[in-house]
Amino acid sequence: MIRQRQLTQLTEIETPFYFYDLDLLRETLAVVTTLSSTHKYSVHYAVKANCNSRILEVIKNANLGVDCVSGNEILKSIEIGFKPSEIVFAGVGKTDKEIVTALNAKIFGFNCESIQELEVIDGLAGQLDKVANVSLRINPNVDAKTHKNITTGLEENKFGINSWELNQVLEKIQNLKHLSLIGLHFHIGSQVTDLSRYKELCTKVNDINRTFIERGLILPHINVGGGLGIDYQDPMNNLIPDFESYFGIFSKSLELQKQQQVHFELGRSIVGQAGLLVSKVLYEKVGRTRRFLILDAGMTELMRPALYQAIHHIENISYKGAESFVYDVVGPICETTDAFARGVTLPKSSRGDFVILYSTGAYGEVLKNRYNLRDEVQAIYSDDLK
Ligand code: LLP
Repeated sequence: MIRQRQLTQLTEIETPFYFYDLDLLRETLAVVTTLSSTHKYSVHYAVKANCNSRILEVIKNANLGVDCVSGNEILKSIEIGFKPSEIVFAGVGKTDKEIVTALNAKIFGFNCESIQELEVIDGLAGQLDKVANVSLRINPNVDAKTHKNITTGLEENKFGINSWELNQVLEKIQNLKHLSLIGLHFHIGSQVTDLSRYKELCTKVNDINRTFIERGLILPHINVGGGLGIDYQDPMNNLIPDFESYFGIFSKSLELQKQQQVHFELGRSIVGQAGLLVSKVLYEKVGRTRRFLILDAGMTELMRPALYQAIHHIENISYKGAESFVYDVVGPICETTDAFARGVTLPKSSRGDFVILYSTGAYGEVLKNRYNLRDEVQAIYSDDLK
């Protein structure tokens, strides 16, 4: 997190900007790699959470694989130095161009979401005279009990193959000679804080895996997705998520064959707490019933509150007095949804004060845009301030 010494350097930098604590990222990765190697689990970082090159470099140095959802994420990961043999390609709508990119890059495998997609990959692999490794993404129909916009594992969601379609898929796949079926893939959703959801996922994985084993198919790779949530309310006291309990659930509840390797695709839990959005107060606007704090950061820099009603912990780090007010903290964009928080108590805030939005390392900078032709938000790294 921003240390006092670093803060004095930051006051010179034009706001708003992302600040990345790369030491915290390294510490988080150390916990993940220690625990995952104890369990012999393979962890792929979900690049979609944050594809900033400096972040990817730190993650590459921790020897994680990557989970990509576009051809460009694959190309960027390879450029950063991730091994193609540790890249999985997921996504419900892979284009022909992206599939060809992945095949030519010789990635580890594709997580496939429909019969049609299997046919397309088979056809393209055939044209290139290759055999593609595929895992079937199965919709486990498990409620992740998270925000409805980031739930993926229910039958009403567009993701994955439904379990009742499996017979048809298996029949089909036998005739697709340019595919090699290597695994099963599941993902229930993101920002999952109720860990019992993962126990339920394990039960579904065991059931589905058993039906494959009964058919004489022991698939070597079982990918249980990502989604472990972070503490947005009290980040400073929970900087590193509880990976021990998380991996522990899978270790206790999955019933796999010895030769089956478990894979994870974690995004937010790895990078979420390592990023902060630093902004300044532009104006304080006192209405009859509300008191607005208008920041120089808005939904163009951090979209999560507008898209998912997400809450980020907010602090004014400039004011040192005891007086406080209840504020609506909003951005400068011409949209009513451009609001970070309504009715939060903050120290008395004035023009020029630094306001920090915590836990913005995941799905923050990646979702930035230039609506209203705003300047592109910049990033600052703790390593450069030492
Ligand atoms: N695997 C699959 C198949 C996914 O769809 C996702 C996230 C992940 C892994 C990584 O999930 P994570 O460990 O980061 O929760 N923009 C939203 C979150 C979208 C998540 C999309 N899929 C937000 O800001 O909350």
